[in-house]
Amino acid sequence: MRSIAVIGRKGGSGKTTVAVHLAIGLHLRGRRTILADADPQRSSIEVLRGREGGGPEPVASSGPKLFALKTASMRAGLDALVIDTPAVLEDEVAHAVVLSDVALLVVRPTFLDLAAAVRTSDIIRRLRKPGLVVLNQAPIARGQVEPPLVKRSVEALKLLRLPLAPVIIRSRAAYQSVLETGRSAEELDGESMAAQEMRELCAFVDRFVFGGRAPSRSEV
Ligand SMILES: Nc1ncnc2c1ncn2[C@@H]1O[C@H](COP(=O)(O)OP(=O)(O)O)[C@@H](O)[C@H]1O
Ligand SMILES: [Mg+2]
Repeated sequence: MRSIAVIGRKGGSGKTTVAVHLAIGLHLRGRRTILADADPQRSSIEVLRGREGGGPEPVASSGPKLFALKTASMRAGLDALVIDTPAVLEDEVAHAVVLSDVALLVVRPTFLDLAAAVRTSDIIRRLRKPGLVVLNQAPIARGQVEPPLVKRSVEALKLLRLPLAPVIIRSRAAYQSVLETGRSAEELDGESMAAQEMRELCAFVDRFVFGGRAPSRSEV
């Protein structure tokens, strides 16, 4: 089993949006997935509770309970544990990172988010975990031209010395409504721009985390 902590020391950067999309994305790729919501606001739980049919199992879990959840999930033969974390509770974030195989840092392309990302990347380095940065809520590129804000942010993110996911998630209205349904953009309208970029991101993270290994279900 592989565990992914979705982190970011800034409220509203999109941790829950990315964590839920990723958990559903892994589920759609055949990974038996559980989503641990370590944020007392329990937004991920709220989203997935509204979901019908199969999907990643949502569980409220934080602090030392996360460790018990991880070992139980491993014993149950699950493939993936995605952990959604709060912005402000440093201990919770550290717990999640310690238990993870990869810490996925969600950052908006703003000065304040980038400054916070430097501090968050320190936690990842201190705990010696592989990290991956996802740029979220970026302004939409016009044609092939990236907005200057995005270009500057990509340059600044190089200073974190963590790999940057090659897929940038844009600011799109679709992300603000899709989670009401408990579904991901990928599921709701597969042709939309949101679906395309999330599909690419989930496929990339799946490869990054599982190193190209097929889901255990298809191995049976
Ligand atoms: N790529 C995006 N485009 C548009 N809105 C987004 C995007 N990502 C997140 N949001 C919105 O921003 C707000 C905060 O997102 P959320 O995932 O709850 O952040 P966090 O969990 O980091 O606090 C929500 O209203 C969400 O719908
Ligand atoms: Mg959240």
